[in-house]
Amino acid sequence: MKKSTPAKKSTRSAAVRTGDRLGAPNTGVLITGGGSGIGRETAFALAEVGRPVAIWDVKAEGAEETATICSDRFGVVADWSVVDVADTRAIELAVPRAATALGSLGGFVHAAGVSGAMPIDMIDDDVWDSTLDINLRGGVMICRAVMEPFRRAGPGSAVVFISSIEGLFGSLFLTAYCASKGGVLGVMRSIGQRFAMEGFRVNAVCPGAVATPMLAPAFELPGFREQLEEKTPLGRVSTPDEIARPIRFLLSDEASFITGTHLTVDGGLTSVTAI
Ligand SMILES: NC(=O)c1ccc[n+]([C@@H]2O[C@H](COP(=O)([O-])OP(=O)(O)OC[C@H]3O[C@@H](n4cnc5c(N)ncnc54)[C@H](O)[C@@H]3O)[C@@H](O)[C@H]2O)c1
Repeated sequence: MKKSTPAKKSTRSAAVRTGDRLGAPNTGVLITGGGSGIGRETAFALAEVGRPVAIWDVKAEGAEETATICSDRFGVVADWSVVDVADTRAIELAVPRAATALGSLGGFVHAAGVSGAMPIDMIDDDVWDSTLDINLRGGVMICRAVMEPFRRAGPGSAVVFISSIEGLFGSLFLTAYCASKGGVLGVMRSIGQRFAMEGFRVNAVCPGAVATPMLAPAFELPGFREQLEEKTPLGRVSTPDEIARPIRFLLSDEASFITGTHLTVDGGLTSVTAI
């Protein structure tokens, strides 16, 4: 399933639409998991500075809604597709389509993710495989597929993986998730070396707790949210747009000498303790 939402006539100035204001290149950005949470807010943040966006998700409704809002509110070209990032063949077919729909593809944000929440004594092969396939392998295969459109878009093209503070520390109930998010940091550094040869940058963000549907079940556990907020120096969990804006920065020319590294965005949580 695939649909493009054409840019509506915009009253925004050319300077804003080409992203000059925040130093962003004007190339299109592919966002996986763009139908919800951090991926959706990232799409809004990028559309705000005039970057065309391609929204991928396994859920059609969320993807279409994000694309429609980007187009209606910000006047950018917004394309959406149902793509399962665990399906390498689907990725290979969908990347060129996204590049064509947006006119150029010079950014990629891997926000699709699942928690696969299970401790070691309960985990099974299926949970392990799907968590690693979605959170880690999908992002790697998309990097391979975007190299060609990135070359056409030119130097300055950039990738942001969404890792987690669980990529930095262990968490009892998140065995596969910790593996996938630690793995994301490893591939970010490896792919970053190869992409640097082409003038492309690759980074990751490591969010702490973010109020999105992914964390909603945990927030229903008595005392979970309160304990988390107590441990966090800034005293609260973040909103998804507080992760989206650092991602937008890392994709922009403001971050032109930043590659192969991660930015922790956790309200100070890991500066004092692991959760
Ligand atoms: N919420 C947090 O506290 C938090 C903290 C650190 C990192 N993260 C990471 O941020 C990213 C975004 O998570 P979120 O909190 O916005 O969660 P979310 O559940 O709101 O969004 C995740 C999106 O990924 C999509 N998705 C799942 N499997 C997919 C697949 N196979 N192919 C394509 N899309 C798929 C879902 O449909 C959903 O729209 C994830 O990688 C998550 O691990 C979240």
